[in-house]
Amino acid sequence: MLTPSNKYDAQIEALLSKMTVAEKVGQMNQYNGFWDITGPTPEQGDSKRKYEYLRQGLVGSMLNVKGVEDVRKIQELVVNESRLGIPLIFGFDVIHGQKTITPIPLGESASWDLAALEQSARVAAVEAAALGINWTFAPMIDISRDARWGRVMEGAGEDPFLVSKIGAARVRGFQGDDLSQWDTIAATAKHLVGYGFAEAGRDYNTVDVGTSTLYNVLFPPFQAAIAEKVCTVMNSFNVVNGIPATGNHFLQRDILKGTWNFEGFVISDWGSGIEMIAHGFARDLEHVAEIAANAGSDMDMESDAYASHLEGLVESGKVKMEVVDDAVRRILRVKFELGLFDDPYRYCDAEREKTYILHPDHLATALDMAKKSIVLLKNDGQLLPLKKDQSKIAVIGALADDKNSPLGSWRLGADDHSAISVLEGIEALSVPFTYAKGADVSIGPETFIEEIQINETDKSGFAEAIALAESSEVVIMVLGEHGYQSGEGRSRANLDLPGVQQELLEAVYAVNPNIVLVLMNGRPLALPWADDHIPAILECWHLGSQSGHAIAATLFGDHNPSGKLPMTFPRHVGQCPLYYNHFRTGRPGPLDLVFWSHYIDESNAPLYAFGHGLSYTHFDYSDLVIDASDQKAVKVQVKVTNTGAVGGEEVCQLYIHDKVASIVRPVKELKGFEKFYLAPGEAKVVEFTLTEAELGFYNNAYEYVVEPGEFGVMVGTSSDVGLTGTFELK
Ligand code: NOJ
Repeated sequence: MLTPSNKYDAQIEALLSKMTVAEKVGQMNQYNGFWDITGPTPEQGDSKRKYEYLRQGLVGSMLNVKGVEDVRKIQELVVNESRLGIPLIFGFDVIHGQKTITPIPLGESASWDLAALEQSARVAAVEAAALGINWTFAPMIDISRDARWGRVMEGAGEDPFLVSKIGAARVRGFQGDDLSQWDTIAATAKHLVGYGFAEAGRDYNTVDVGTSTLYNVLFPPFQAAIAEKVCTVMNSFNVVNGIPATGNHFLQRDILKGTWNFEGFVISDWGSGIEMIAHGFARDLEHVAEIAANAGSDMDMESDAYASHLEGLVESGKVKMEVVDDAVRRILRVKFELGLFDDPYRYCDAEREKTYILHPDHLATALDMAKKSIVLLKNDGQLLPLKKDQSKIAVIGALADDKNSPLGSWRLGADDHSAISVLEGIEALSVPFTYAKGADVSIGPETFIEEIQINETDKSGFAEAIALAESSEVVIMVLGEHGYQSGEGRSRANLDLPGVQQELLEAVYAVNPNIVLVLMNGRPLALPWADDHIPAILECWHLGSQSGHAIAATLFGDHNPSGKLPMTFPRHVGQCPLYYNHFRTGRPGPLDLVFWSHYIDESNAPLYAFGHGLSYTHFDYSDLVIDASDQKAVKVQVKVTNTGAVGGEEVCQLYIHDKVASIVRPVKELKGFEKFYLAPGEAKVVEFTLTEAELGFYNNAYEYVVEPGEFGVMVGTSSDVGLTGTFELK
């Protein structure tokens, strides 16, 4: 937690007064380790130069250096050889675990379990810190409404209320209560802002977002992270209102550091400075440095713009000394908070590296999180859970035997092929089964930087799989996306089962329709055929190190699924962007004639709504009571009863609808949720309170207002099923 600015002020000022302009600029310069991991290195950023710059104190931070030995070596170089010995801060993309991999963030978010999400980030922080890392570029809190965008896997979905709560929980998990402890690391709220609105879901594409959406949808998660004292904010690759975020004064100075009073520092995204040239906003690298520094981008990740030009720009007066001083103060403050001035090697303990990596407690957290992330999408005839002594179980699909895909995309610290596969998970329960692959999902190399190649032709394994299905009582089919089909640079124009998997599914169904479909994917998929035909569907994302154990426990009833979708699943890719909290239109329908807002070849409805997720038990909702007598604290109560035969967890969701307002408001907005366990027959009265924080919005004058009028209320088990009522604000 970043403490009030005055705690380290005297030390910061004393240090600042000793620094040359070049050394100050150095603090604003971040280099990648001496190898390429997460992006193209600019030509100028060669290793030799980096090494020299480190030694001269002209680098403030490194990214992608991990392991106590490597971190210590570089820290020693800087501390011992540079004039002032200001320690580096080491950043890494600790996105869903470090070595112990938890589910992809979109999957974790399906848990709606804030304590579990916080704990998952805690474990990631401990492992990263044990490896010398003291700064993560997470949580990503970009709202996205478009399943085509590959990075939806890294976020918490489409809803500003849920994303805000989850982002704050993850910041708490990474940063803890005391940043100076060895096992807490600085977090990054990213990407400011609008990156998830890339047009047509194509990564790095341009963005066009109106102010109402900016203030009411995209900003709130950042405000929540700042309220949680997040140490750093990363800007985004895209333009906002025609201005690249890195060069955007309005976003970084007026809003972030002005209105929101953010005390940490802004890190650019990888090369987002130099990309302003490609955007057509900066003439050359010097211009990049001038624009970015003046706009409030404090640290330059791998553009080499500040290192090359900022000192000169200060001399020529194009960038004022105060601008540089402000950035350096912010950066130094985070370093002080991390305790790096007390001990630059605080994170470099070889013993801890041995003790904490893949610690059994961490694996237990990963398993718990994986179970909580699973969403039961469909369960006709209560096919699930399967009985452990059920005879003749077939398992089909290459992903069932895959130990790599479940690790997801952002798992730079993990060992490849280290996840528990579904086959291993079922074996561990001693349940007999027979496996047939059916068909590969991918062929060729599986790496973070290369495009994955999908098997579009090889069906040679179909016959064996079909024969096995024919002679089995029940078929578990594990299908979906490879772990490297989502993530950065991995947008898709199709949301189907990649390659020949749909064909395999239909061929198996033709001989045995008694199928449980286990989906592994990094984004919502559009699978209307499966929904029409397959009796049971379990959404299992990419669940991380313990994936197979979590899936097997759920298939065979040791775990009752409770996940709820954090993102709408469309029926067809052509519906994207599709999200539950949309505005109305002037032409709602259906109408007899064609002149209403619809498709002539597809329904408007999603396949699975935001918030959807079934259980092996049933929760009954009754007795909705709305009490608006206190207009500043409207009370909403509902009774939830477990009417089924097994215990289970439910996420009770509250939505409101501001019916008439000075700017149009969404048809529904999530404004509360509670997750709880109910034993069979048990009931609970859930109570929500709606205050100004939930009832208002930013109008077009950027004022937060709560307007009188009628509000709709819905409380239920998903965004499309619940009890409804109304109240009036006078
Ligand atoms: C680019 C990504 O957009 C960002 O989220 C990430 O943190 C950096 N690369 C560093 O790897």
